[in-house]
Amino acid sequence: MGQVSNSGAGVRDYAGAMASTRPRGFASDNMAGASPEVIAAIAACNMGLALPYGNDELSQRLQRKVSDIFEREVSVFLVSTGSAANALSLATLTPPWGSVLSHVEAHINRDECGAPEFYTNGAKLVQLPGPQGKMDLAALKVQSRRMVGDVHSVQPSSVSISQATELGTLYSLEEIAAIGAVCREAGLGLHMDGARFANALAALGCSPAEMTWKAGVDVLSLGATKNGALNVDAVVLFKKELASELAFRRKRAGQLNSKMRFLAAQIEAYLDNDLWLRNARQANAMAKALWEGLKLIPGVKLDRAPEGNILFGRMSAKIVDGLLAQGFRFYYDRWEPGVVRLVTSFATEQADVEDLLAVVRAVAAQ
Ligand SMILES: Cc1ncc(COP(=O)(O)O)c(C=O)c1O
Repeated sequence: MGQVSNSGAGVRDYAGAMASTRPRGFASDNMAGASPEVIAAIAACNMGLALPYGNDELSQRLQRKVSDIFEREVSVFLVSTGSAANALSLATLTPPWGSVLSHVEAHINRDECGAPEFYTNGAKLVQLPGPQGKMDLAALKVQSRRMVGDVHSVQPSSVSISQATELGTLYSLEEIAAIGAVCREAGLGLHMDGARFANALAALGCSPAEMTWKAGVDVLSLGATKNGALNVDAVVLFKKELASELAFRRKRAGQLNSKMRFLAAQIEAYLDNDLWLRNARQANAMAKALWEGLKLIPGVKLDRAPEGNILFGRMSAKIVDGLLAQGFRFYYDRWEPGVVRLVTSFATEQADVEDLLAVVRAVAAQ
């Protein structure tokens, strides 16, 4: 095995210059810390004793709160990473002889080191094509029926879509509903990887219910870490009958946190007073500001206006090198040679955007 990297480093990406003590950040939304409200909530629940393993008052209260937000009785399972949320969600929807249909660029397919296959005890991930990170409906229809009942083939069992997608695009409500309808007709479970759920919600301006169960989603990985929490994401089950299985699976996966109240406190603060949406709006607005500035600069070619908080495009090697030399960090050459990804977060400010634009303009003018 070659060199191991925790950054997901390709040959040339941000990890090469990690030694810098204070990176200027557009590598990922998880370069940001946590929101002060979240830190305060952690400190506040550090008083006295509480029952462990989610039997505390705060964890119980959270079930109600999330149910209210989603306008339906749900079961909420807190875990420490988005990969765990995804892999556990998929395991509840997919038997070992089943398949999970997802876009080829899906995080579950590209960036989870086989965790979905591992947690499902070997189910197969089937990759679907589709423009701009969104799965092609016709391809989904074909795959959802492929070799059903044939013992020689894995059986289509679940579909996973990312909202927002890994390429920074959004499924419209109609597109989600169309995928939901295919799933229903073929008897497949629908999972949504919502690592950037709030960014999508803020951009679409719809309700959490509309973007999920009303459009046919059965299980949601509700991301929080990238958008203001410290270290918690949630599995939200709209099919409560899956809850007892997931409870055992979470423990078996080592994801039943004994001091669960600290995770619950984070999600509660994250959802209180619309913090999740305020944070997401900031991140989305900063991505727009980056786009507005960058699209005017020679040597930069962006794919499309950002719909959430991720921008993709190409920059000349001169500009990439200039930014790296100034301490900016971002992924490049990871998707394809020359392709750059910039991600903003709730902690990104207009001044950070101006900083980057000033360097790009200066290098481009040389
Ligand atoms: C689309 C998507 N899903 C899930 C995750 C969760 O990953 P992690 O396990 O690093 O929390 C990420 C993080 O980059 C992501 O971009």
